[in-house]
Amino acid sequence: MTELTGPCISAMSASVMTISEAKHVAIVGATGAVGQEMLDCLDERNFPISELTLLASARSAGKEIPFRGNLIKVKELTHDSFEGVDIALFSAGGDLSLEYASSAAAAGAVVIDNSSAFRMDDQVPLVVPEVNPEAIKDRPKGIIANPNCTTIITLMALSPLHKLYGLRSIIASSYQAVSGSGAQGIIELDEQIKVLGAGGEVTEDMKNVYPHQIASNVIPHVDAFTENGYTKEELKMLNESRKILNLPDLRVTCTCVRVPVHRSHSVSVTAQFERPVDVAEARAAYAACPGVDAKDDPENSLYPVPLDTTKKDNCLVGRIRKDMVFDNALALWVVGDQVRKGAALNAVQIAELV
Ligand SMILES: NC(=O)c1ccc[n+]([C@@H]2O[C@H](COP(=O)([O-])OP(=O)(O)OC[C@H]3O[C@@H](n4cnc5c(N)ncnc54)[C@H](OP(=O)(O)O)[C@@H]3O)[C@@H](O)[C@H]2O)c1
Repeated sequence: MTELTGPCISAMSASVMTISEAKHVAIVGATGAVGQEMLDCLDERNFPISELTLLASARSAGKEIPFRGNLIKVKELTHDSFEGVDIALFSAGGDLSLEYASSAAAAGAVVIDNSSAFRMDDQVPLVVPEVNPEAIKDRPKGIIANPNCTTIITLMALSPLHKLYGLRSIIASSYQAVSGSGAQGIIELDEQIKVLGAGGEVTEDMKNVYPHQIASNVIPHVDAFTENGYTKEELKMLNESRKILNLPDLRVTCTCVRVPVHRSHSVSVTAQFERPVDVAEARAAYAACPGVDAKDDPENSLYPVPLDTTKKDNCLVGRIRKDMVFDNALALWVVGDQVRKGAALNAVQIAELV
């Protein structure tokens, strides 16, 4: 383990309390897309770190990763990796979380898990710090779950409106970037773009992450299909939104679509509320909310696009208008960096709350 002399008081977002004690932080999946972004977020937010343990598969053991002027050697993940760790950020997939999170918790670490393994466990809080920060207090298993990326981004847009009008239902279609599939998703898109650009054709052996060509295409299929015709990703939006907002009767229907965008998910949302809505009031509500801004002046072509939020902390909302089908409903467009706010940043914000 490497000793790091980081600042002991961190500068944090307005809603987050001050941390005065430096922590021993472990990242499981440190070499992955989200793990790398976690390192950036920890550094940018001056998270107070006394020691940093970077864990990945045996393939990466020994690899050196720079952090705050130090080169830190990646170690192979084992059940004994967590001695002395205060906060373990897990980002290596659900199977590994199921296998190793309890070892980390038993060693005394607070586990913040990015996978879907524990999200619907009654004894594991599911937290978006701007939406339900109070939920982190009750964590009997020592595990806190980070929600699904599309759900986080959608709720960043809907939570301020829920406070104003009372959310009743969500109809959504997502436009999800390939980095949502990890580093391999980006590689697959880039290889296909290169071949097509050279006048070639995408062959079967170039389709490993997605069942169809992703370059010059959109694929209405994110995660596995379930018996009712929805995918697991679409059901995450339903079940996780209900849990985070504590709205067990919330109605949600969603179609999740993979698009040939490198980074940042977009979601088209129609949300119906209990009370009458007002577009100007809804737009103004975002000014008072950390983590989300309105970018909504369509006549001047101002609305959020994925490039606006790439590598940025805040989600953006635009195209806010009264829905023409449902009463008390708003249609809107929300965009957010799913590697950052949809995963790494949200986990680091939870660590700040802990
Ligand atoms: N990408 C996103 O936008 C996003 C958003 C929200 C949530 N998530 C979730 O975050 C997690 C990681 O996603 P990612 O996109 O970062 O994936 P990724 O780029 O494929 O990275 C996977 C990480 O897991 C590690 N790993 C794989 N097998 C391992 C093993 N047997 N033992 C220890 N470590 C192992 C890899 O280490 P090696 O380099 O050694 O293989 C790598 O560090 C997933 O649960 C994903 O669902 C991702």
